[in-house]
Amino acid sequence: MCGIIGYTGNEPAKDIIINGLKTLEYRGYDSAGVAVLDPKTGIVLKKKTGKVAELEAAVAGDSTDATCGIGHTRWATHGGVTEANAHPHNQGSVTLCHNGIIENYKELTTEYGLKNILKSETDTEVVAALLDQFYEGNPYKTIRKVVDLLAGSFALCIMFDDQPGKIFAIRNVSPMVAASFDGGSIIASDLTALISFSKKYFVVPEYHILTLSEDGIEVQDLKGRKVEPEILEVNWDISSAQKGGYPHYMLKEINEQPEALERTVAPRIQDGLPFLADDGIDDEMLKNVKNIVIVACGTAMYAGMVGKSLIESKLRIPVLVDIASEFRYKDPIIDEDTLTIVVSQSGETIDTLEALRLAKKKGSKVLSVVNVKGSTIARESDYVLYTHAGPEIAVASTKAYTVQISAMYILAARLGLVKGIITEDQAREFMTKLSGVGEVMKKTIAASDDIRRIANHIKTAPDVFYIGRGIDYTLSLEASLKLKEISYIHSEAYAAGELKHGTIALISEQVPVIAIATEEQVYSKVISNVREVKSRGAYVILISQEGKTESEEVCDKQIYIPKIDSIFGVFATAVIIQLIAYYTSDAKGLDVDKPRNLAKSVTVE
Ligand code: M6R
Repeated sequence: MCGIIGYTGNEPAKDIIINGLKTLEYRGYDSAGVAVLDPKTGIVLKKKTGKVAELEAAVAGDSTDATCGIGHTRWATHGGVTEANAHPHNQGSVTLCHNGIIENYKELTTEYGLKNILKSETDTEVVAALLDQFYEGNPYKTIRKVVDLLAGSFALCIMFDDQPGKIFAIRNVSPMVAASFDGGSIIASDLTALISFSKKYFVVPEYHILTLSEDGIEVQDLKGRKVEPEILEVNWDISSAQKGGYPHYMLKEINEQPEALERTVAPRIQDGLPFLADDGIDDEMLKNVKNIVIVACGTAMYAGMVGKSLIESKLRIPVLVDIASEFRYKDPIIDEDTLTIVVSQSGETIDTLEALRLAKKKGSKVLSVVNVKGSTIARESDYVLYTHAGPEIAVASTKAYTVQISAMYILAARLGLVKGIITEDQAREFMTKLSGVGEVMKKTIAASDDIRRIANHIKTAPDVFYIGRGIDYTLSLEASLKLKEISYIHSEAYAAGELKHGTIALISEQVPVIAIATEEQVYSKVISNVREVKSRGAYVILISQEGKTESEEVCDKQIYIPKIDSIFGVFATAVIIQLIAYYTSDAKGLDVDKPRNLAKSVTVE
C-alpha cells in the first residue's frame, strides 16, 4: 500500500525519483507526487491523480537541478483520490511522504489545534504539521518528539527546508530498505527501486532515525546512539524486475514459474530427501508438532489450503487454515503443540503479521513461508522457509502461489519423514515427483492457445463459476479470485457437490462453468455435477488429465493437464487458471498488472 522513495546525492533527483516510482507503482497507483529540495529556490512540489506516467508528463518541463528529493505513489486510505490528498505533503518548513496509517490523527488534530491549517483529508499531513510545529532546527529531537505521539504504522521520508541535501527517515511496521552507493543514498519501500543503484542494502530498523546525505546514511536509535545496520545482498538483478519483452508482468511471472520452482525446491533436496537444516528448521521441533494452523490472506491462504489437503491426506496431521484477518480476532485454539505456518509473498501483510504475533503470544511456534528476504514477517518468525520466486510485480499473484505450495510440500515431506509417518523411499519418490513439476508446467504454458480462445469466450460473461472437489476445489477458489481481480467478472468457486444446494439456481446459458476434475478418486463425481450444470444450459469448460476425454454432452471445451499424480497436478492446473484470468483481462483491454482498487501489499487492516 503506497510506495515511497527518497534520493540524495550528486545526480538530478527528479528523474531518479520518477523512475523509482515507476518500479514501486504496483504498491498503489491512484495518484503520485514528487518534491525536490532545491538549495536555491526551496521545495518544488508536484502531485497528480492517476498513474506515475501522468506525474512524469506533468514534471517533464520542470528544469531543476536539485539533487535531493522524495516521491510517493498512493493507494488511498484516508481521503479520496485528489491532488490535495496525494503525497508529498508540505507544512511550513517540512515536506514528507508516508506509507502506513496514523490511527490517532484525529485526536492529534484536535489536541494540537491543526484543523485550520490542514489542506488535505489525510492522516499524513497531521504528521507534517506536528513536525513543523515542534521544529526548532534539530531534526532528530523533533522526529523523536512527534514519533512518540503517533499510533499506527508508518514509513516516513522527511525533508526540512533548512537541511539541504538531507532526507530523514523513520519507520514502524511499514517496510523501508536503504542503500548508499557512489552516486549518493537512496531509500524506498522495497528493493525494486534500489536494485539499479546497489545490490547491497539494509532493512531500515524500526524506530531508528536515518539521515541520508550524499556521503552515506547514518542510523541512530531513539536515544541518539549510532547503529550499524546489517548489510544484505540481493540475489536477483534489475532484469528480474522488468518485463523482459513480455506485454505484462503477469504473463512474464506465469512463465517464470518452472525456474522459480527449481530455485525453491532444488536446494532443499539432499541425497534425494527433503532437507531443511540449512533453513534452520530443526527436526526436533517438527517431531513435536501435533497440529498445524496455516494463516494467510488471499492467494497465500489458498496456497495454504493446498498444503492442508496434502498434510491431512498423506500425514494424517490435523490442519486448520484460517484467514489472517479473522484469526487475529477470534482467540484461536492453539498452544505449544501447534505449529503455526504463516504464508506471505511480501512478508508485510499487516493482518498476517498480527496473526503471527498472536500465535507467538499463545505459545505456538511460528514458521513463515515468505518470498521477500528480511521482511517483517520473516524477521519475527521462529523459522523461515524462503520461497525463491524473485520479485513479483503484477498485483495478481502467480509464481508466488506455486512456490508457496512447493515450500509446503517440502515441509510436509520432512515432517512426515522425521515423524516416521513416511519412509525414506516414499520421501525420495515424493521429492523426485516434486522436482519434475517444473517440466509439466512448461508443457502447460506452451499449450496456451486453447486457453486464449476460451478466454475470448468468457470475456463477455456476467458470471463465471468454478467447481471442483477436494484439492481441485481449493484450486477453484484461487481460480475464481484470479479471474475476479483482473477481469472484473463476477465469479464464484463452489465445491462441485454443493452447487445443487442452492447455487445451481444461478446457472443459465449465459454463465460459463469451469470444472476442475484432475483427481482420479472423485473424477466421476465431478462429471456427474458437470452433467447437472450442462443440462441447465451452462457452457462448460472441463480441466482434466490427458486421457480423460468427455463427449459434447458433458462439456463444450476441454483443457488437459499432463497425466500426473493429482497432488502434483496442482502446479499445471495453477498455470491454466492463471492463464484463463490473464487472457480474459487482456481480451477485455484491462490493465492486467494494475487492476482497479487494488495494491500489491496490503499493509492496512
Ligand atoms: O504478500 P501476501 O502474500 O501476504 O499477500 C496476500 C494477499 O494480499 C495476496 O495473495 C493477494 O490475494 C493476491 N495479490 C491476489 O492475487
